[in-house]
Amino acid sequence: MKDAENPTIYLKDYTPPNWLVEDVHLTFRLAPQATRVLSRIRFVPNPDTQDRRFFLEGEDLRLISARIDGETVTTEVTDEGLICDVPEAAFLWEAEVEIAPEANTALEGLYMSGGMYSTQCEAQGFRKITYYPDRPDVMATFTVRIESDMPVLLSNGNKVATGDGFAEWHDPWPKPAYLFALVAGNLVNLPGSFTTKSGRAVELNIWVRPGDEDKCDFALEALKKSMRWDEEVYGREYDLDIFNIVAVDDFNMGAMENKGLNIFNSAAVLASPETATDANFERIEAIIAHEYFHNWTGNRITCRDWFQLCLKEGLTVFRDAQFTADMRSEPMKRISDVLDLRGRQFREDGGPLAHPVRPESFQEINNFYTATVYEKGAEVIGMLKRLVGDEAYAKAVALYFDRHDGQACTIEDWLQVFEDTTGRDLSQFKLWYAQAGTPRVTMTEDWEDGTYTVTLKQSLPPTPGQAGKSPQVIPFAIGLLDRSGAEVVPTTLLELTETEQSFTFTDLKARPVPSPLRGFSAPVILERETSNEDRAFLLAHDTDPFNRWEAGRQLAKSALIGMIDDGKAPVSGYLDALSRLVTDETLDPAFRALAMALPSEDDLAQSFADMGQTPEPQRIWNGREDMRAAMAKALEGELRPLYDQHLVTGPYSPEAGPAGQRALTNTLLSLMTRSDGGAAARAQYKAADNMTQQLGALSALLANDLGADELAAFAGQWAHERLVMDKWFMIQVAQARPEEAAGVAVALSQHPDFTMKNPNRFRAVFGALAMNQAGFHHASGAGYRLMADWLIKLDPLNPQTTARMASAFQTWRRYDADRQAMMSEQLNRIAALPGLSRDTAEMVGRILAA
Ligand code: PHE
Ligand code: ZN
Repeated sequence: MKDAENPTIYLKDYTPPNWLVEDVHLTFRLAPQATRVLSRIRFVPNPDTQDRRFFLEGEDLRLISARIDGETVTTEVTDEGLICDVPEAAFLWEAEVEIAPEANTALEGLYMSGGMYSTQCEAQGFRKITYYPDRPDVMATFTVRIESDMPVLLSNGNKVATGDGFAEWHDPWPKPAYLFALVAGNLVNLPGSFTTKSGRAVELNIWVRPGDEDKCDFALEALKKSMRWDEEVYGREYDLDIFNIVAVDDFNMGAMENKGLNIFNSAAVLASPETATDANFERIEAIIAHEYFHNWTGNRITCRDWFQLCLKEGLTVFRDAQFTADMRSEPMKRISDVLDLRGRQFREDGGPLAHPVRPESFQEINNFYTATVYEKGAEVIGMLKRLVGDEAYAKAVALYFDRHDGQACTIEDWLQVFEDTTGRDLSQFKLWYAQAGTPRVTMTEDWEDGTYTVTLKQSLPPTPGQAGKSPQVIPFAIGLLDRSGAEVVPTTLLELTETEQSFTFTDLKARPVPSPLRGFSAPVILERETSNEDRAFLLAHDTDPFNRWEAGRQLAKSALIGMIDDGKAPVSGYLDALSRLVTDETLDPAFRALAMALPSEDDLAQSFADMGQTPEPQRIWNGREDMRAAMAKALEGELRPLYDQHLVTGPYSPEAGPAGQRALTNTLLSLMTRSDGGAAARAQYKAADNMTQQLGALSALLANDLGADELAAFAGQWAHERLVMDKWFMIQVAQARPEEAAGVAVALSQHPDFTMKNPNRFRAVFGALAMNQAGFHHASGAGYRLMADWLIKLDPLNPQTTARMASAFQTWRRYDADRQAMMSEQLNRIAALPGLSRDTAEMVGRILAA
């Protein structure tokens, strides 16, 4: 029934707009319950089409009046928009509509949050503000007048006039409506300035609610670094006189790149040492950069239609990853990105929600802001760069900016600049955009008379709507080591283009140890028979830092799987290698901390599924606990001295160096807490003057069923800090024992500070429940029921966040019959809900179709 109501939109049905927009004038008379929006839009016929029918998107608008060239016109208004007869040639459209920002809990369009007005228009939110051709290939200049008694009134572009109760903004750069933004509120700013390389002075501001002004410095510095970096590395300069960033508490996503007026989830911008962790600082720096980089990859060059979303997102994620690697540590950034890719994108690619990097159909585009579009989209850019080389990449991207500035483009346009600069045929490469699923590459080896042969075989599993796939171009970086650990063949890029292909290395003195898929040169699953000895060897000797980590990871995984499977004690080889690594002072502490982190419960569940076994969440949980106990025992003598040696006590700095030391000491602390009754963790908690150490200590205590006093003290200390309280909510669910997780979430949902209107708070509790795998999948089914109850409650208020959270159920087919029955019961209960949103209906429908 839902499917009949919610039409599917196809890429192949794209047609250009009938009418183009020259310029837009908007006047906002702001009022919480009845805001008036006056629009004056100059329409011109699109010379590329014959069709002159006129349709404007509009949702939840009360139309007051509509005029064409000054004359009132009759219109036909539907739930989706408005139709009306229009002249043959250019005309002026004027309309007045009324909207209710205060009642807007979906956080899309114009809404009120914490007493301020804010907008979110990507992807299709502008149609909730006024009638408009709300599609990214219609680009226009905007002039905006805001009338309100709020002290701060902001919109895109440059400020052109201001006075008592009003402000006017003009954005000279043509843009699609999804980049429109408006903010009005009682805000304070941290000001800054930046001079571009050609000498343009740019005023910078971070706007926040009074009381948050002490948490803006880091974001401002990150912005300046991003602006400089984009000039130096991509030759891109900022193009307006002012750049504003606003922090908003209620926001569905991380942040939004509106032209000249970025709007951020306050969690993605506010930071002080006392309230934010090292991970928060790193994430804030990356998101500030990401949104800033969109100014060129997204805004100046935008997407023709929403199927091309990866054109801006994949490229911008790739750019922000390069930035973070430059600011911090390249190998550490790569390792954490691969962890994230495997944890979120491979999981998506292997289940009912799998879709190509460029999807070919959707019901609700908001459901496609996914790990596949973003993270796999970025991997595809990385592979392209690897294949053509750094120099050709730089040339092609320069041509892209040159050729397409001011346009709304497609993946074809993007690939064309690479074909034109390199002469390469990229038609096979393009399959990365079109075929869903994670390729499996099987590697076998041969050794004969000084010749070493690697044979690679690729296959791509079927995904929803896609069977029978073609081989892709897989850049496979490999290095060869000899038994002393010396590199006999440096990193070499093999190009796998066939289903099966062999590559030879000649004139070798002895059979080498291969280091395959260096730097994770392609987003594939590598299958290869290897021994724990070879893994331990690579862990000790590989010159590629990523593969060094990877070898340790595989060792840990096989040890863990052995323990879970048949209760085996962990292979002593693993614990020996770990202890050597942890105490190796030549290694980056951050690397050591990551190497000690165990594969996640979800990762292990996937491994069992891949081996054709049904994952048992409780046993996986027990296995990880046993492994931690074994680690604590094996490292017993080293923990305390290492902890003392690396404990950072001086003034806090969020830089990668000290952050790495804190990551290491927090990891050590969690093991120490197993046997010291919590003494060290309590001491760290007490002494901590920063959130990383305070939360690390609290987490170590809670993980060992200690820390009730600290938990209460934490709430007392931070009751007034919303973002810190999110951590307080989250950690309790995250650290709850499996049988208690749902109960803890229920109790927290009854806490006076819980609200489902704030997506951060909702995710703190229910996102954490989904992450607590053994808790969510507890055999009682309590986790499933609770999640469904809350998704049902949230859907009428906020469809976007509900649909996103419904993905907690995406792995349901992995589990045993009882759990599958319980999960499908809950999914069906949601699907049957009268008035279910298009967002959630589509997600649940796709998950159930598995
Ligand atoms: N375009 C934003 C980004 O990636 C994400 C976003 C999408 C934010 C939709 C809000 C709504 O930077
Ligand atoms: Zn983005």
